[in-house]
Parts: sequence; structure tokens; C-alpha cells
Amino acid sequence: MSLSVKHLLGIKDLTPGDIDLILRTADQFKDVLQRPIKKVPTLRDTTIVNLFYENSTRTRISFELAEKRLSADTINFAASGSSVSKGETLIDTVHNILSMKVDMVVMRHSASGAPHFLSRHINASIVNAGDGINEHPTQALLDAFSIRERLGGLEGKKVALLGDIMHSRVALSNIYLLTKMGAEVTVCGPPTLIPKHIEKLGVRVSYNVRETLAWCDVANVLRIQLERQNKPLFSTLREYSLYYGVNKALLDSLNKEIVIMHPGPINRGVELNSDVADSKQSIILDQVQNGVAVRMAVLYLLAGKKEEALS
Ligand code: CP
Repeated sequence: MSLSVKHLLGIKDLTPGDIDLILRTADQFKDVLQRPIKKVPTLRDTTIVNLFYENSTRTRISFELAEKRLSADTINFAASGSSVSKGETLIDTVHNILSMKVDMVVMRHSASGAPHFLSRHINASIVNAGDGINEHPTQALLDAFSIRERLGGLEGKKVALLGDIMHSRVALSNIYLLTKMGAEVTVCGPPTLIPKHIEKLGVRVSYNVRETLAWCDVANVLRIQLERQNKPLFSTLREYSLYYGVNKALLDSLNKEIVIMHPGPINRGVELNSDVADSKQSIILDQVQNGVAVRMAVLYLLAGKKEEALS
């Protein structure tokens, strides 16, 4: 059993079999993480560099923890404080790091396609930890793992992606994954934050949060990404919160229990109120916890692929 890919650049490249294999492998690593000794020797001869050109809390810590739990040697590289500020290119930076015998690269970059570009120039396996507004594959995998854990599966489940779909790499990776695995997906937000022709990806579009929440089993509420908006795409945050924010009063009025997710970081009081984010309907911290097992699975399976490719 192995993945069909050498790199994890995006969910777009994975088969349903790949996704199923990663989720089932993550089940096993989740069991490992419940033990008193949460470490396995699986990658003890592997060195991994975490190359973060963009800020991160959850993904960076989660990858580092996953690598340590697998006994890999890890190097953490942040663009700030490095020779990138002296003008060193991405390729030169990576070639220099790889010359020190590094086996795998985990990379976050603000430019969409940066890990794809790198994959054409180096031999080591690359894991995309989020590239611009393109994909965030391990986030979608941990989201799927968390839905499956709470609802027993993905097929036939109704999942709403709410908010800033236009600028969200989490949305795109979730759309690819959920539609490949037989879930129904509706994207919902202000018209200015929903890409034109997104229906071609097999999703429904709604501009009405109440109707969407009434329809779904799971609502994955996405962050308003003000840092990616060159010009204002809605009038004020207050108005956004009023028309598209999710709060307890709205959920209570629906008379049904919806699973609430958010990839983080949350703009509390904008897309999601604290009375929902911290409620028992919310699995936000389960998502974060599951991220470690899912990333262990990805690294483990890609390390196997690397050995295969080199043999
Ligand atoms: N969900 C997510 O990618 O969070 P970070 O930006 O903190 O890694």
C-alpha cells in the first residue's frame, strides 16, 4: 500500500485511494498518540526541513511535533532572520539546505505554486503546508479525518464551507477532497468572496448563511483573509458579521445540531462568535489535535515513496 504521488503538493493530485490510505494510516498514528510513550522509531534515519516563508502557528508546530513523534531529525527555517532578506532565491536556499543531506521538505509560501515549482528542481519529497491562495492539503486531510471521526464517514455528508472562499486555500483543498470522497459541498459567503464558476468543481453556491446551515451536517467556517484582499470586498467587518457571521442565536434558531469547524486562526466576533467556537458543537481543537496524526501519516507514507523512488 503506497501513495500514487512522490510529493504532497495538493489534494487535486490525490486519488480517493490515496486519501483513504492517509486517513487509515492516521487512525493508527492517533492510537500511538494516546499511549504513554507517544513516539515511534519509524523515521529515525530521516531529516526533514520545515521551510516557512509565511507565518504559521498550528501547521508549523503540528509538523514539527509529527516529525518528532516519528523520531525524524528536524530543522526549522523561517524566512525572517535568514539570508532570504539578503536576496537569496528559493532555489538557492533549498539547494543549500539539501546539500546538508536533508531528505524531505515541508514548505509554506505566500506564492501560489511555490512548492510545485520547487518539485521540478529538487529530488527530495515536498509537502505543501499552504501555498498562497492555492491549496493547504494537510488541513483538508485533518478536516476530513475530524469529520469522519465525529460522523463516522464522509460519503453523503453535507458540508458547508462558509466565508471567504475566494482567498482560501483551505476551501479549495476541502472542495477537492470532499467531492472526491462523495460528500456534498455548498460554499456560502458574500458574492464578492465566491469565485465565479466555482460550481464547475462540483459544489453548490449559496449566499444565504441561514439556509446553508439548515441544509448541512457540518459547517467549516473560514477566516476572512483581509491580508489577501487588495481592495475592500465588503463594506465593514460589523456588516460581515451581521450577515455572514455564525453565532449561537442563529444556530439555536435552526433546531438541529451542526458540527462546527474552523481551520484557525479565528477572527472572533467576525466570522465566528465565541459562544459557538467554544461550544460543544465545535470540534476546532479536535481538528488541531488530529493534525499531528494526519501529518505523521503523510510524512510516513511519503518517506516510503522516497525509498521506493531511490531504489
Ligand atoms: N490552519 C492553519 O493553517 O493555521 P496556521 O496558519 O496557524 O498554520
